[in-house]
Amino acid sequence: MITYDYKYMIYPSIKENSPSQYDFFQINFSKESLTFRDLIFDDTSKIKKVGEFIRSKFKYYVIVGIGGSDLGSRVIAEAFKSKSNTEVLFIGANTDPMEISDFFENIDIKDCIFNVISKSGETVEVISNFLYIVSQIKDKLGEDKVKDHIIITTAEEGSTLLNLGRKFSLKIIEGKKDVGDRFSALSVIGLLTADVLGLDIDKFLEGAKDIDKKTENGEPKENDPLMFAELNFINYKKFGKNMSVVMPYSAKLHNFGFWYRQLWAESLGKKDKEGNNIGITPIASLGSTDQHSQIQLYNDGPNDKIITFIEVSQFDELVEIDTLTKEADYLYKKSFNDIIHIERKSTSISLMENSRANGTIYLDKINEENIGGLFYFFELSVSYLGFLLGVDTFNQPGVEKGKQYMYALLGKEEFKDLKYKLEKIDE
Ligand code: PA5
Repeated sequence: MITYDYKYMIYPSIKENSPSQYDFFQINFSKESLTFRDLIFDDTSKIKKVGEFIRSKFKYYVIVGIGGSDLGSRVIAEAFKSKSNTEVLFIGANTDPMEISDFFENIDIKDCIFNVISKSGETVEVISNFLYIVSQIKDKLGEDKVKDHIIITTAEEGSTLLNLGRKFSLKIIEGKKDVGDRFSALSVIGLLTADVLGLDIDKFLEGAKDIDKKTENGEPKENDPLMFAELNFINYKKFGKNMSVVMPYSAKLHNFGFWYRQLWAESLGKKDKEGNNIGITPIASLGSTDQHSQIQLYNDGPNDKIITFIEVSQFDELVEIDTLTKEADYLYKKSFNDIIHIERKSTSISLMENSRANGTIYLDKINEENIGGLFYFFELSVSYLGFLLGVDTFNQPGVEKGKQYMYALLGKEEFKDLKYKLEKIDE
């Protein structure tokens, strides 16, 4: 179960620069048009078949992707212990030569299946890693083995990746053309990772459907993702709070912060319909670790942020301290479970007393339903917030521009003129 506690986001707990009960408003927003919503009603049998094949044959399932093709899977791989004999690894989210060479030095390539994932099928990081993987397989196992160790996932007919996939006779998984990358955690991209780990992928979708049922109403007090969006919106528009921190108190959810950061930044940071530059900067933080770095700034620095903790009420393990010492007797028989809850609570109260708005999303535990629900909670929230801010939540013109400049400078034929222009600028 997922719940949102926002009492320290509003007046009277937050005395200065805070919304009150009366600031909330109903919205008229239809979820029908949200393409990522269709995913949660999809049939998962094809994904399970591919998952079973991978689990039965390979020790390592290696995801080769970047941004939305990679971050959701990272959340899943970190949050859960594998229940299968296959481990999930990642390469391709960077072009750091050291990372790439370390990866191939330390792995036996015959144990690996690489899923090269790119919705557009053109992204430089992914295509360059793909080409390198092909050469590694050729060198170490022989050319005829390339097709046994690489599959591709893409959505664009005619794309470079799809053409390469056909050229090397690779198995091709069709991605969803109409679902933006950063909203694809609950598509074949994230769910195949979960299946390879031996998780119940239908439960991810059940968790998302549960949130979907609870968000029929355009009244924020009866719709937590909408309340979360409105609190961000009011704090941004009325009180100039233009940063939003998400701070899970669980190392298992560290990557969730990075997934959130991409979803939030690419969906909301752009020009609105009138041409104004809009954006609430997302910050990924981790409790309790960052209590000892960022919290100083959040408490005593400018009051320009809102903070959202994610608390896991019940952890799978109970870890207790049973060393009694005079010096630290207050910790005797305390569990780390208690300590981490107390740390979040103390941080939350201390921020509140300083009029720093903070809310908490509670997961009763880390399980498939709740991780599916959490992805969906944020996807919905960001859609509501994009609607309120008047931006096109689902495009990313700033990312596309950078991609085109890269193609040009790397010498892709159709960007020849742009290359000339860019080289002139940077002479
Ligand atoms: O969300 C987005 O659209 C981007 O950040 C993409 O995730 C990223 O650029 C990778 O794109 P692709 O999957 O087309 O390789």
